[in-house]
Amino acid sequence: MSTETTPQPGGAGAPLLEVRDIAKYFGSVIAVQAISTTVRAGEVTCVLGDNGAGKSTLIKILSGVHQHDAGQFLVDGAPVRFGSPRAALDRGIATVYQDLAMIPLMSIWRNFFLGSEPTRGWGPLKRFDVEFAKRVCRQNLLDMGIDIRDPEQPVGTLSGGERQSVAIARAVYFGARVLILDEPTSALGVKQAGVVLKYIVRARDRGLGVVLITHNPHHAYPVGDRFLVLKRGRSLGEWAKPDISRDELTQMMAGGAELEQLGHELERDAEDSELAAVAREVGQDAKDLGIAP
Ligand SMILES: Nc1ncnc2c1ncn2[C@@H]1O[C@H](COP(=O)(O)OP(=O)(O)O)[C@@H](O)[C@H]1O
Ligand SMILES: [Mg+2]
Repeated sequence: MSTETTPQPGGAGAPLLEVRDIAKYFGSVIAVQAISTTVRAGEVTCVLGDNGAGKSTLIKILSGVHQHDAGQFLVDGAPVRFGSPRAALDRGIATVYQDLAMIPLMSIWRNFFLGSEPTRGWGPLKRFDVEFAKRVCRQNLLDMGIDIRDPEQPVGTLSGGERQSVAIARAVYFGARVLILDEPTSALGVKQAGVVLKYIVRARDRGLGVVLITHNPHHAYPVGDRFLVLKRGRSLGEWAKPDISRDELTQMMAGGAELEQLGHELERDAEDSELAAVAREVGQDAKDLGIAP
């Protein structure tokens, strides 16, 4: 890791990723156009927008799945063009997709090391170092504040939020500098969403640059440092947190009635909501989460 990307305590570091006027076309479909944003160490960049806004296309460019057709993509200040997700991963850009690449019947520790199994011995005696894997898995989950009952437990028995959390801890352990999460909370209830948001904050506090994709401003606002709002492939703008209120962000997302409904749902579940705990942890008022009584 180069020194200029080392995060300063209590503040954001140098830009890890930057896109400038980036565009991606699928035949005659303009998936994204003229999008610019920055991802810094120790910050959460939120990408918001309705279905079809271009959120997934943007992060697929960042994660090496797609290549951009116009504009610039810079990593550590230098232009890049990744040929594969592996190439992005080699630069420390890890992506957690909604349909997680985990094997439900396998244990948590096996999934944790899937594709990067630690070995001991040499030549024909080389074998998967099970004891090491179990120990490291447990320790790293604990370091992230994830208290799993038993690392032997099949991943399929974990809740959606716990699975996302294991995926985040895995990316952190394998040295991710940028963690990209595509709609990690969209399939989750309020409580589980709160759990995942908490680990996003932990990853940020460890100095990672986080890109959080969501269509839910109530999830984005408490944890986000900057907000990029997309609509039909174009940018409606990008705001640092002090420059936009939760209400303004919510209005920007429009879809009026739908969000009204969401607000009510969040209020109903506010009693045991872990979102409230997240709000406190990141120093946000519970009303930022739309769960104030
Ligand atoms: N592989 C693809 N081929 C053709 N069109 C695509 C492809 N991927 C995305 N699109 C189009 O690009 C636009 C943005 O999609 P997407 O990035 O998935 O939006 P979001 O993630 O915000 O819902 C949509 O109109 C979608 O149909
Ligand atoms: Mg998407």
